[in-house]
Amino acid sequence: MTLTRRAFAAASAALLVAPRALAGPPTLTARPASHDFGLDGAGATPVWAYNGMAPGPEIRAPQGGRISRRFVNELPQPSTIHWHGVRIDARMDGVPGLSQPVVEPGARFDYDFAAPDAGTFWYHPHNRTFEQAARGLYGPLIVEEAAPPEVDADLVLMLDDWRLARDGRIAEDFGSIRDASHAGRIGNLVTVNAAPVLRGGVRRHERLRLRLVNAANARIFRLGFRGLSGWVVALDGQPLAAPEALETVTLAPAQRADLIVDVRDAEEALIGYYERDGAYALVEFPVAGAARGEARTDPPRLPPNPLAPVDPAAARAARLSMEGGAMGGLRAALLDGKTTGMREMAGAGKVWAFNGRADMPETPFLTAARGEHLRIEIVNDTAWPHAMHLHGHHFREIGDGGLGPWRDTILLDRAETREIAFVADNPGDWLLHCHMLEHAAAGMMTWLRVEA
Ligand code: C2O
Ligand code: CU
Repeated sequence: MTLTRRAFAAASAALLVAPRALAGPPTLTARPASHDFGLDGAGATPVWAYNGMAPGPEIRAPQGGRISRRFVNELPQPSTIHWHGVRIDARMDGVPGLSQPVVEPGARFDYDFAAPDAGTFWYHPHNRTFEQAARGLYGPLIVEEAAPPEVDADLVLMLDDWRLARDGRIAEDFGSIRDASHAGRIGNLVTVNAAPVLRGGVRRHERLRLRLVNAANARIFRLGFRGLSGWVVALDGQPLAAPEALETVTLAPAQRADLIVDVRDAEEALIGYYERDGAYALVEFPVAGAARGEARTDPPRLPPNPLAPVDPAAARAARLSMEGGAMGGLRAALLDGKTTGMREMAGAGKVWAFNGRADMPETPFLTAARGEHLRIEIVNDTAWPHAMHLHGHHFREIGDGGLGPWRDTILLDRAETREIAFVADNPGDWLLHCHMLEHAAAGMMTWLRVEA
């Protein structure tokens, strides 16, 4: 079977006319299922999915409201759910060993938490994530503003790449040391909402809110747009102080971008991603029918979320050095309390280190008083890009021109140093890790404690 991108059945025309999705079901069951990518000659692919759907059901809640879901684990291995980007009660954060015990096969766990920020978030497992997410376990979590900006459609676009073997099944080389030490697991089938191309239809001058989520294990998406013009209005669920004119959008694993775009005088509205060898369409919306009134000119506005302003001048400074990987020159790191050579580390599945430690430390990387301002200089001393994610908080980058936008995941290019600042105002134990999931499993994981 060849993985051609064009040959697939249009599966999504209903999306644009669907009303706002209803709230997801009260139960999220992770279980084996099958999914039809619509590839030529390939039948359905066995996947793992929430409620049998890839992506999992869309959860929508009003800002400040509570989200309650009973998680039922019908997988053959333990799992949990992490609600990525939500400044959540630590007991609901879904990290085995830090916020809760794993949920064993056949067991359940009730998640119940408040959603303080309006924006685009997502959920995924936090146990063997490199396997469970690669098999299809992830879904969107949308928290709505009290008065959302007026649009004609509100679409969630979850980007992913899947690694399929020759027989069309998901390749089971999860967490291979080769992937772990290089760019992570990069798939050979790129999808949006688990379809190779999303097709639909739009009218001229329609205004769309597009919520982009990168749910891939390791792929960095660079996206381009045609027939659409507009703004980036939020990143990682947090509104920008001022909307930014839309050009290209780069999304590292786990990052999100909210766009508000207007359909132009064009034959087709397209969203594509750039590869080394060219650009490929992910979304193809022919522009048809009568125009929807006059072209709008007013830029949209999103109200800010209730984040504590951070003052870098008052912040305690820390430094996190990222080391290891292929061509990284790391010779040894601490593993189980012992200085261990790179070869032996690799034998134990570890090829990366933070500040010289290759395993999840028993003591936190730092302990903060509640409300303390922190700044962390992150030094990427490796030959690879990494997407660093902090749980339970959003941070701002300290840049030359002041503070950057609020984010929960920051992309560091190879050999780059970036500094983030935030107020440690959410008590609990919080992971700080690379969201390239193979990197996290192979040593790029630490945590910090915010005292109650
Ligand atoms: Cu989506 Cu620990 O992260
Ligand atoms: Cu990484």
